[in-house]
Amino acid sequence: MPKGKIGIELGTSYLRICANDKDDILQIKNVIALNNKMKLVAVGNEAYAMYEKEPYTIQVISPMTHGVIGDYTNMRRLLHVVLNSYTKRFRSYSYYAAVPVDISNIEKRAFYDMILEAGVHVKSVDLLAKPMLDAVGLGISVEEPKGSMILNLGTDTCEISVVCLGGVVCSRLLKCGSSQLDSWMMQYMRRQEGIQIGKKTAEKFKYQYAKSQQDKTFFIKGRDVVCGLPKGKKIPLSVMERRTYEFVHQVIAETKDMLERIPPQLVSDIMAGGIFLSGGGSNFFKVKSWMEEELNLPVHTRLNPENTVIQGLKVICNQKNDR
Ligand SMILES: Nc1ncnc2c1ncn2[C@@H]1O[C@H](COP(=O)(O)OP(=O)(O)O)[C@@H](O)[C@H]1O
Ligand SMILES: [Mg+2]
Repeated sequence: MPKGKIGIELGTSYLRICANDKDDILQIKNVIALNNKMKLVAVGNEAYAMYEKEPYTIQVISPMTHGVIGDYTNMRRLLHVVLNSYTKRFRSYSYYAAVPVDISNIEKRAFYDMILEAGVHVKSVDLLAKPMLDAVGLGISVEEPKGSMILNLGTDTCEISVVCLGGVVCSRLLKCGSSQLDSWMMQYMRRQEGIQIGKKTAEKFKYQYAKSQQDKTFFIKGRDVVCGLPKGKKIPLSVMERRTYEFVHQVIAETKDMLERIPPQLVSDIMAGGIFLSGGGSNFFKVKSWMEEELNLPVHTRLNPENTVIQGLKVICNQKNDR
């Protein structure tokens, strides 16, 4: 019988899990709901459905912040519950986890310890560099002596990395991400339109804007700030354009900075091969053209860019047969 292998990606928004003996990938919201900060009420999508609607006795918590484990205890509880129902009994597993490169050794150690504690029938735990998994998931031939640049735009982090010869040459983790657009939208609605809206509504607006190729309007429902009664208004999707550009521009500035620091031979590889975009934040229709214009390099996008890391993990789980 082949050995059991499980791949885990702990994102700020989503927890993604794959295994060598299952075809489908599990993707759930990385959220846990607790009663009086103690008793477990729900995990994943069920817990997320409670978000912004919870009574005062229930707390809905996102245990990951800025690409690292922000709330160790609750992340361990959440992962344990999910793995318990995902794994098969009477089988031991080797665990592979995607971990950012530009974090401290203590933060990396926390990933290791947590999976060791939360895992079911753990045989071994291996931490793998997230940019490498991204590259594998994107279909880049990582072992070749040819540098590739990958930009992963996530929920509250953006990772800019250069990979070559099966390793990471350099990587920077920026503390900015596409969720800052949700917060901005909430603020915009309150200040400009006098309507208070929730984060989920703001995110829905962002999704509509991301895929729109022409200017349309979106009907937003919320509460009037003055009279406190329900209120709705049609808002043009283009209100988000300037703010999205500012977010992308931040990433572009850091990318330019990295291009100045890496060896020139790698720059020439990147000029030929272009830049690869991944992560949920690269779903914006205009990101590709903005980047191409400012960086003067070809930029490659793909469908479902948020899944590249877990797809890379799936390839690794299916391949590695050394333990
Ligand atoms: N189709 C989409 N359009 C716009 N934004 C999206 C889309 N899909 C995902 N996102 C945004 O991308 C982020 C999630 O990306 P993901 O790579 O899964 O993040 P992480 O790995 O940090 O959890 C969220 O902020 C989400 O709102
Ligand atoms: Mg991601």
